[in-house]
Amino acid sequence: MRFKIVTLFPDFFESPLKSGLLGRAIEAGIVSVDIVNIRHFSEDRYNKCDDYPYGGGAGMVLMPGPLSKALDSTVSAGARVIMTSPGGRLLDHEMVVELAKNDEVCILCGHYEGVDQRIIDRYVDYEVSIGDYVLSGGEYAALVIIDAMARRVPGFMSNAESLAEESFEDDLLEYPHYTRPSSFQGMDVPEVLLGGDHAAVSRWRHGEREEKTRKVRPDLYKRYLMRKILGE
Ligand code: ADE
Repeated sequence: MRFKIVTLFPDFFESPLKSGLLGRAIEAGIVSVDIVNIRHFSEDRYNKCDDYPYGGGAGMVLMPGPLSKALDSTVSAGARVIMTSPGGRLLDHEMVVELAKNDEVCILCGHYEGVDQRIIDRYVDYEVSIGDYVLSGGEYAALVIIDAMARRVPGFMSNAESLAEESFEDDLLEYPHYTRPSSFQGMDVPEVLLGGDHAAVSRWRHGEREEKTRKVRPDLYKRYLMRKILGE
């Protein structure tokens, strides 16, 4: 999977792309991330990339000239272009699964008050928000999207099982985990996990997942129940 990030702040990505599973996957060549600095495509000698909005209003708008050049320099034919924006469609598990079917995804990091609409009309396939709150820049959202997608690439995770059992795969959140010691500050690991009865462990875990989802995410739980009723 190839990611292209089009951004005003390339340094932002330095450490996250070197760390953890994502860093390891990039080093192993399972995913690649190219960073494109919009400022390199500025059309004036002050490296200006934003300007006042036509019609007035607060904030600045990213100019179409540098953005189109930056995108043309990196987006391959057939690649999907995402723009991060609080005004986009909310990212969820289904969207991550869909997006991860693409070999190449370019993420344009939105900034300031916005991006000239003509760039969105010409280049952008999906405007994506990672939640109903406003971030100080689209770079935070871009990292979230990349990580969520990259971990679906075969070989990204060492344990093939973990994708199937994790939260959201079947509208249920994860069950609680425990490790040694079996007793910690007066709190004991549930008896069933110590007994070695795998079927009983599975039943217990499923029950815990249902209970947690019902309490914490009634919206997901409703969907889970609907699917169960429909036998999906
Ligand atoms: N840029 C600012 N806020 C954002 C959000 N919630 N999601 C995606 N991009 C953003």
